[in-house]
Amino acid sequence: DTLHVLNGPNLNLLGTREPEVYGRATLADVEAACRAACERHGLGLVFRQTNHEGELVTFLQQAQGSVGVVLNAAAYTHTSVAVADAIKAVGLNVVEVHLSNVFAREAFRHHSFISPVARGVICGFGIEGYRLAIDALASSLADRRV
Ligand code: DQA
Repeated sequence: DTLHVLNGPNLNLLGTREPEVYGRATLADVEAACRAACERHGLGLVFRQTNHEGELVTFLQQAQGSVGVVLNAAAYTHTSVAVADAIKAVGLNVVEVHLSNVFAREAFRHHSFISPVARGVICGFGIEGYRLAIDALASSLADRRV
């Protein structure tokens, strides 16, 4: 079983990008944490990042048939009907993740096109949120197997 962790625009700059908001961990650190979590659950991992909206749509389509997707769509969270439509079209089990607590920030970050089509949402716990999302997906899989 394989899980996809997909990251949107500017997350390639993690570590140096507004560290007071997003912390000092890099995207490579996030990938290492995700890989460790997936290994614990016996899951394969596809880990990707893109700055392009259409490419994110393609990555979501390519995740069809996977056990689930941990998605930090970054700014596209707040703007992209296309990303939300891709999740619906492919019938993906998505956990929406944000490093920062978007609800404690500007009003334009309070709306998400992803949340209505997500299984759940984790925000505000930094890179720990990715691990929490993987654990949540893995335990929902375990429940299904009972
Ligand atoms: C983010 C929050 C978004 O509002 C922002 O556009 C990002 C990162 C987060 O992880 O906290 O790029 O998704």
